[in-house]
Amino acid sequence: MRVMAGISGRLLVLTVVVVMLVEVSIFVPSVARFRMDYLQERIVRAEIAAMTVMAAPDGHVARDLQTRLLRNSGTLNVAVREAGVRILALPGEPIESMAMTFDLRDATALDLIRDAIDCLFGEKEGTVIRVIGETGNGVFSQVEITLYAQPLRAAMMDYGIRILQLSLIISLITAACVFLVVRRFVVAPLLGVIGSMQAFQANPEDPARVITPASRLGEVAEAERALAAMQRDVHMALRARARLASLGEAVAKVSHDLRNILASVQLMADRLEMSNDPLVARVLPKLIGSLDRAIALCQTTLDFGRPEERAPELRRIELAPLIDEVAEAAGVTASDGTVRLVASIPPDAVVKADPKHLYRVLLNLMRNAGEAIRASGLPGEIALSLHPGEGTSILRLRDTGPGMPRKARENLFRAFHGGARQGGTGLGLAIAAELARAGGGRLELVETGETGTCFEIHLPD
Ligand SMILES: Nc1ncnc2c1ncn2[C@@H]1O[C@H](COP(=O)(O)OP(=O)(O)O)[C@@H](O)[C@H]1O
Ligand SMILES: [Mg+2]
Repeated sequence: MRVMAGISGRLLVLTVVVVMLVEVSIFVPSVARFRMDYLQERIVRAEIAAMTVMAAPDGHVARDLQTRLLRNSGTLNVAVREAGVRILALPGEPIESMAMTFDLRDATALDLIRDAIDCLFGEKEGTVIRVIGETGNGVFSQVEITLYAQPLRAAMMDYGIRILQLSLIISLITAACVFLVVRRFVVAPLLGVIGSMQAFQANPEDPARVITPASRLGEVAEAERALAAMQRDVHMALRARARLASLGEAVAKVSHDLRNILASVQLMADRLEMSNDPLVARVLPKLIGSLDRAIALCQTTLDFGRPEERAPELRRIELAPLIDEVAEAAGVTASDGTVRLVASIPPDAVVKADPKHLYRVLLNLMRNAGEAIRASGLPGEIALSLHPGEGTSILRLRDTGPGMPRKARENLFRAFHGGARQGGTGLGLAIAAELARAGGGRLELVETGETGTCFEIHLPD
């Protein structure tokens, strides 16, 4: 209802104001026109009266008739000009003072307007004016009358008031029409659109709540169509999300059970180590390696599927011991023949981070680097260093591996997309980036190429 009061109410007031303004702008000229007609009519009547008098045998009529002729023409006295001579055709009462003289013959529209205003506001009781005019029918070249200004003024006022009343009625009718039209064709469809939005918002999964475009008005129909399209998109996205969520749940369950089954298989495989069978001895290492990878795949999938990582608990941690721990877990300790870890971290270096999260980030990066170097078949090095930044500490991890494959570079930090390694999931970097972000920092790939790869972990201080 508020919208209705808004648009149509405002238009109602606006229409009344505009129509009144237009009316006022034509009010002044039309009052001037009215005055001109009023005076011209007096001139015509005065001419007829003068003709009557001058038609008399000696140009004189009885005093009584003269008075009646003057009263009939609404004038005080009448003079005419014939063949260049001015004749006082109907002399009335002597006039004491003449307030103004108006010549209708050569008055411009502007003169007429100015005279009308003077007439409305400038005249007092008993004022007498003289008016000069012509009728154009060729009897006299000029007719000159005197008359009281007051009746003229009263007639003009009367006329003006009638115009104003009429304007008011017209503007009210117009405004009412505008109000109804706007309400019917703009506000009502708008309310329909708003209602549909609200209904949809309340339950976006109900396809019946998608608006059916029904308006025949171009813009409103367009709004309805756009809304319908948007609602359908949202609806589809929600359905897709719901389906993905249940799929994710299923994958998590499968991964969980599979991991447990594989773990028991692993136990059994371990027992086979005692066998003396040469075939078993040949196949067993590969079998155990495959099992390890399969278990790791299940585990990372499970980790990723966890609905939400717990909120990071930031605290100051000593970096050196953490790195030792990670190196151990990633299998890149100094004793390793192919991969050498060079950690130039001051023994007392301290950073602010969630220790479990930072452990996982570093583990992913270091494991990737180790895997890349080993896969190249050449010995290599992983260098770790700490640099101060602006309000951050930057932990740089550079390896001398073969660089990231194109697929991994193009899908950097995209879960399940960037894996370019047999047995990998393409989750490690995505998780690492997510964890770094959760702690207020970020993970960046600085460079990767034939001479190696460099990642930076930015940790806010
Ligand atoms: N330091 C690195 N050097 C070369 N390649 C790398 C490096 N780190 C990651 N990669 C590549 O990026 C891919 C994605 O890594 P990751 O997200 O950890 O997934 P995963 O290790 O499960 O494959 C890897 O498969 C690997 O090809
Ligand atoms: Mg990895």
